[in-house]
Order: sequence, then C-alpha cells, then structure tokens
Amino acid sequence: MKKPCFFVIILAFLFSFHNVNAQTPIIVNYEDYQAVIQPTMWGIFFEDINFAADGGIYAELVKNRSFEFYKPLMGWKRLKREDSKGDYYILNHDEMSENPRFVRLECEEGEYGFENEGFRGMGLKKDMEYNFSIWARKMGDNSPMLVIELLDSTNKIVGSSTISNLTSEWKQYKTSFTCSADEPKGRMNLYITQGTLDIDMVSLFPKDTWKQRENGLRSDLVQMLADLEPGFLRFPGGCIVEGHDLSVRYQWKKSVGPVEDRKVIVNRWNTEFMKRHTPDYFQSFGLGFYEYFLLAEDIGAEPLPIINCGMACQFNTKELATMDQLGPYIQDALDLVEFANGSTDTKWGKIRADMGHPEPFNLKYMGIGNEQWGKQYLERYDEFAKTFREKHPEIKLIGAVGPSPDDSRFRFLWDEFKKREGEVDLLDEHYYKNPDWFLANATRYDNYDPGGIKVFAGEYACHGPENNDPTSRNTWLSALCEAALMTGLERNAGAVNMCSYAPLFAHVDAWQWRPDLIWFDNLHVVGTPNYYVQKLYSTHKGTNVVPITSNDQNLTGQDSLYASATVDANKKLLYVKIANTSGQTVPVNFDLEGKSGLKGTGKVNTMSSQELLIYNTIEKPAQIVPIVKEIKLKGKTLTYSLEPKSFNVFEIPLK
Ligand code: AHR
Repeated sequence: MKKPCFFVIILAFLFSFHNVNAQTPIIVNYEDYQAVIQPTMWGIFFEDINFAADGGIYAELVKNRSFEFYKPLMGWKRLKREDSKGDYYILNHDEMSENPRFVRLECEEGEYGFENEGFRGMGLKKDMEYNFSIWARKMGDNSPMLVIELLDSTNKIVGSSTISNLTSEWKQYKTSFTCSADEPKGRMNLYITQGTLDIDMVSLFPKDTWKQRENGLRSDLVQMLADLEPGFLRFPGGCIVEGHDLSVRYQWKKSVGPVEDRKVIVNRWNTEFMKRHTPDYFQSFGLGFYEYFLLAEDIGAEPLPIINCGMACQFNTKELATMDQLGPYIQDALDLVEFANGSTDTKWGKIRADMGHPEPFNLKYMGIGNEQWGKQYLERYDEFAKTFREKHPEIKLIGAVGPSPDDSRFRFLWDEFKKREGEVDLLDEHYYKNPDWFLANATRYDNYDPGGIKVFAGEYACHGPENNDPTSRNTWLSALCEAALMTGLERNAGAVNMCSYAPLFAHVDAWQWRPDLIWFDNLHVVGTPNYYVQKLYSTHKGTNVVPITSNDQNLTGQDSLYASATVDANKKLLYVKIANTSGQTVPVNFDLEGKSGLKGTGKVNTMSSQELLIYNTIEKPAQIVPIVKEIKLKGKTLTYSLEPKSFNVFEIPLK
C-alpha cells in the first residue's frame, strides 16, 4: 500500500484557516429523539498483538513456561555457578499432554538450574505476594530441593522460596513469597541443589490479579478497560483468528480447560513485520475463551467472539479449507454457543461449569471470519449462516467486508450481503487511514440505510505521523481526527450499532503495530489521547441521538467544526460533542430547544492542544487528557469559546 505523505498532511492541517463564523447559532433539539443508541455502541477490540495477552494483560511472569517455543529454552538461561556440576535434557513425552516437552535437571554438585527473563523482564512490586507453581517429579533416590529466587536488575535477591519433599509422581507444587523491592525488569532463578528433577509448567503470578483470580489478569490493565464502560468485547482478534496458515488459526477449544493442557502455538505477529521481528512471541492461551468470557462479564460488555471460517490470512498464505472440509469449522462455532450458553448437562456447557461458571455467559453475537474478502469468503459465510439461522437464530451474525473501507473488495461484499439481508446482521468495516480521510469521512454514514444491515466499525484508528517517528506513540492529531469522525458514527447510530478502536494494547518494549489505544510496560499503564476520546464517547453515550445543526445542516466540517448530540433519557442528560479542528478559538452559541426546562449549570470535558504531535508516555501520562469545567447556561443558550484544536463534550442536565 502506498504510504500517505504525513508531512504534507500535517502542514495542511496545522495551517488550515477555515472560514470560522461565530455568529450562526448551533441548534440542538433535545426533545427530538432520533435513532436509538444501542448499548453496544462503543466497545473494545482485543487481539494478542504487541504482547497484549502473554506479557501483557495475562499476569503470568514466566516466559515459555512449558518449554514449547520452537527453541525449547528461549527465555531461559543456564545459571552460571562456580563449583557446580550438572546437566540438563529437553525431553519429549508425546502422550503426556498437548504440551509434550519438559526439562530434566541433573545436579551433581552445587546448584544447577536456569534463569527466566520474563517478558522483557518481570515487573516486580515491593511487598507484593507472588504465587509460584511448578509441575515436577524427582528421579532416583536423592531428594533435590528446588530453590526459587527473584532478582532485581543489580542481581540482588528480592524474594525467594524453596520446595522440598518432591515425590517421584508428576505433581503440581505451589509456594508463595513476598517481594522486597519494586523492579520493572526483574528475573527469576530456579535451581536444584542435588539429585535429578523433571520440571514443567513453571509459573509465577502476582497476587493482585484482577479480582484476585488464579491464572488471572493484570488488574491495572483490566481497570483501564472497565473504565471505558464498554458495550462489547470483541476477541480474540483480528488476524490472529485466521492465522498465518490454518494450522495456527485460533481454535477456541484448545484455549479452554486446564491451562497446562492448552497447546502452545506461535503467535502470528512473531514474524509478521521484519522491522519489528519478535521471535519470542507465542500464544500460551493462558488467556483463553473462558477468560475472555469472564472478562467481558466483569466489565459489563457483551462477549463478541470472532470465529475462523475456514480461511487463513489472505495477506499471508490465503489457505482455504475446501468446502467439503468446512464441517468442523461450523461445528466449532456451534459448540462455542453451547460452551457459552448451553446447559450444564451438555458437553461444552459442562466444561464451562467445571471451569467455574455454571451460569451461561449469554452470548448473543458472533463474527464469521475476520477481514476476509472475495467469493471464497461468501461461499463459506453462506454455509455458516444457513446452519446458524436454523440452529441458533437468536445469535446475531457479523460478516466481514475486507480490510479496506472503500475498495472493490469492500463494495463487492456490501453489494452481495445486501442481496442476503436476512442472513447477516452486521458488517465489520475496518479503517486505518490518515487524518484527512478521517475528517472527510465524518459524513460517511449519513447515506447508510438505518433500516438495512447494521455497521460494526470493528477496527479503526487514525494513522497520523507517529509512524515516521520511532519514539512517538499516539498523537493528539490522530485522536482529534477520530473524535471528529466519531461524531458521524454517533449521529448515524441508527445504522452504526458497534464501534471499536484497534489495536487495543501495546507493550512499550515489544510492540509490532502502532498506533494503539493503551500502552504499558511491566509495571505501568498509560492512556493515549485516543483512549480518552474513546472514553469520552463511551461514558457519555446516551440513549437517543438528537439533532444538532447550524443553518439546518449537520456540523460535518463547516468552520472546522464536527458535532453530534445525544440524550440519556434515563439520566436526564443532554450530551453535546464538538470537535474544533481549526487553529483558532471559535466562539459558539448553542440554542438548546425543547419544551422541558434545563438546569442552569452543566459540565464540559475538554481535550485540547495546539501542539498536534503531543502524546502521553509512561513518564508523562497526562500531557493530553480531558479537563472538566463547570459551565453556566443563560436560559436555553450556552455561549462558549471552543479552544483551538479541541474536542469538547458538554453534559447538560435536563429537568
Ligand atoms: O489491528 C491490527 C490488525 O489489523 C488486525 O489483526 C487485522 O484485522 C487488521 O488488519
């Protein structure tokens, strides 16, 4: 794809002096309820890219815990100990589990073992309790003692424990201990003092996981998601659903049940970008479908799984399951409904119950394929739809329309799906585009039919100039342009029922793709300006769209202003969202029209910066965040000066 010239875009944007006319009032009819805003309107897209799962939200600290990476000792380093003597072997026992490798440690003298480097180090916290576990068995008569040590970056031991009385049967052993220091790049030593020990599934979790769950998630990262009050959680992707080829597609059945039995496979983002080659990126599936459903439930989001439809990534191998081999793929999708919603006497419902959740997860949506295109996709989609309409008409089906929002693949699929209206509920549009495109597309949905197939804006992000600067994250420029486009999503909530920014997470030391909504390191997390824009929309969603116009026109870029308005009929609040993309202060007069009264004061949440390339970092997380101010109304008029390059969300209480 030809790269847009960001330099030109930035200049055009910085020096755009539009004809700002403050005199024309902006009319908001707060009693003229238009489209209903679906509770699912603003959601989350989760994919294991940029170390989002392993090394990210999944709180496991040990990398390659079951020695199943292509190089069995990747992430592990043999401990150098003077006067120690020993050896190790990588053993493979096919029948043992889906993860057949384990390590045999033989210690003849001294201390013999390995160090684990974690995921770009281990984030350790002072006074935090850590839960260590390991599968092990001793070989021979000697009784080895297993020693666990946490180290800081100066090699000081900041936490330790031992396990003894190891038996000759494979068994899981556990121990907990407290860490004495904060350390962003810690490591863990694991060694024996004498004898021979087989080890597997070496695991270390902090105790403060989200809701203190075993095999849990990093609570600071989950909190960022919960704060978005998302309407849905899309998982597990993204291209990871498709896989580079079908052998490494996402198979949800292999991601549930005991963690030690979940087969480790390579992560497709391991090799995708040579510039950001990540050879140590694999999928442990410790965060699997059960955990995704639980996460969705915890944060009040509808679960939205995307299922492989018999197609590998069309940017990679384009491998297809032949039509006569599609049965198992469709069966996987049907069984997923049983896993999520089935009674506990069904096979998959019982597995859910055995994992700790007898109540159904209430699955209502399923995406068939990610970002697929072409007639091969349609043939496969039709088979899924036929079966689902017959067996699960209650499930809303989401179809793909390719990777671009405006090319021939996109138009072909929209046209074809229109001929199949009863067989698809939503279509999943993706756009990773430059700032100009985002501004121009604030009107994109004005001509979509609110009575037709609904839109799922399932992956979008404005790609600003950050891609040219290796240190830059997500700029204010990109967030402001998204805020402007999103007025068009909101205004057309009759046609657009679901939206999610993508990708969601990125580890500062291990990313492959940017921009991303939330950045983190091993101990900290930071919201990008884009995160705060998403949050302003999702936490000021409203129940109905109401019109906001100037000269009888929607505000879609006139005078560099982009606006939408909604009312929350339950909370009795009017929300007005308005982006000023010009470089000047714009005085505006809002005439708020309606029979019922308004309370005299309200609030405005503003994000603004004339420095468009500003971004938040872990060191400076609040370079650009919303600032809340009180506002006073004069009767039904609100006079306000919109700051240059600002996004504003007004909250006005209705009587
Ligand atoms: O969000 C990153 C990737 O972009 C997704 O995996 C894919 O669906 C899209 O191409």
